[in-house]
Amino acid sequence: MIAFPSCRKQEPIEKIIDESLAFSVKQYTLMTEVMKDMPDLLPRTIDSAGALVTAGSGWWTSGFFPGSLWYLYEYSNDEKIKDAAMLMTSRIEKEKDNTGTHDLGFMLYNSFGNGFRLTGNESYEEILLAGAKALSTRYRPVIGCIQSWGTSRNWQCPVIIDNMMNLEFLMWAFSISGDSSYYKICVSHADTTLKNHFRSDYSSYHVVSYDTITGKVQVKQTAQGAADESVWSRGQAWGLYGYTVMYRETGLDRYLNQAVHIADFMISHPNMPEDMIPYWDFNAPEIPDAKRDASAGAIMASALIELSRMTDTVSGRKYLQVAEKQLRTLASSAYRAEYGENGNFILKHSVGSIPGKSEVDVPLTYADYYFIEALGRYRNLLN
Ligand code: GLY
Repeated sequence: MIAFPSCRKQEPIEKIIDESLAFSVKQYTLMTEVMKDMPDLLPRTIDSAGALVTAGSGWWTSGFFPGSLWYLYEYSNDEKIKDAAMLMTSRIEKEKDNTGTHDLGFMLYNSFGNGFRLTGNESYEEILLAGAKALSTRYRPVIGCIQSWGTSRNWQCPVIIDNMMNLEFLMWAFSISGDSSYYKICVSHADTTLKNHFRSDYSSYHVVSYDTITGKVQVKQTAQGAADESVWSRGQAWGLYGYTVMYRETGLDRYLNQAVHIADFMISHPNMPEDMIPYWDFNAPEIPDAKRDASAGAIMASALIELSRMTDTVSGRKYLQVAEKQLRTLASSAYRAEYGENGNFILKHSVGSIPGKSEVDVPLTYADYYFIEALGRYRNLLN
């Protein structure tokens, strides 16, 4: 059992959740005002001068802002937020036939998927099914995985741990269309990743590249971690989230076991800070001065809330306790922005890529998205 110091009476979590969601509605209303006059663009982060940085629909993070607006509409029932969600979602439609990226789960399922869940809009369903078809063209049967990136460096067929996050989208396509090829792709990808991406301690590599002829592993490396053998924090969070979803969608115990092992590895890691927001890499050489990654903390919190419902009571309580700690930390002034500041993003202090010297200690749309998702999930539990 995790023991957290309790030197003073804490605010009830219900209050923190409601206050954070209400704040997010206000902050993202400001962001919407700015974005509505920027056709085709979506928010991405801020630059070193604090100015908004945007991205086109083809950037991997395009779906997070519309997805957050859908969650905030679900929370607030505010028609203005719904209109904004529809507008921002429409900006991504052209990606539905994009076979040049594996990030369609993030781009389309978070935006159109949440929109479809909340409105039943049939045109969203068509767009999603087109997107799922496009994504499935990247499945490589000889390897058993969806290809992440194109051939580069010495990588013939790179598959990154983040790719586990596409499976929820394809499992949705299976449930809607009844096409079992989506199910088979998901199970094959999850099983192959389980076999090749993880070390014996359940930490994961970032990139595993496969030989396209033999289907065998070529190399195990990193693009965003501190070193090939280090433990890149967001990658661990993607894996945790992905296997939790795969257990929800298939009921296969091996995915639950994997999610539990990943969760336990992260929670009990000696380099996990007391406030439960990971350093950008569990083995970052600069620890304890290493940058934190709020996005990893938010993704982990959201996954742990779901996982807490799937395990025995003692483990479930532990996972929920960690998620609650993460939400309290992220909702505090250490991480949560002031109204109108931080480029109108919600959370501060995320890391895109330290090796790439890009988006270091900045707000990121996906940190906001999983923070809002986690708040909503915890709220649903309490209700
Ligand atoms: N999928 C890219 C990232 O997590 O940074």
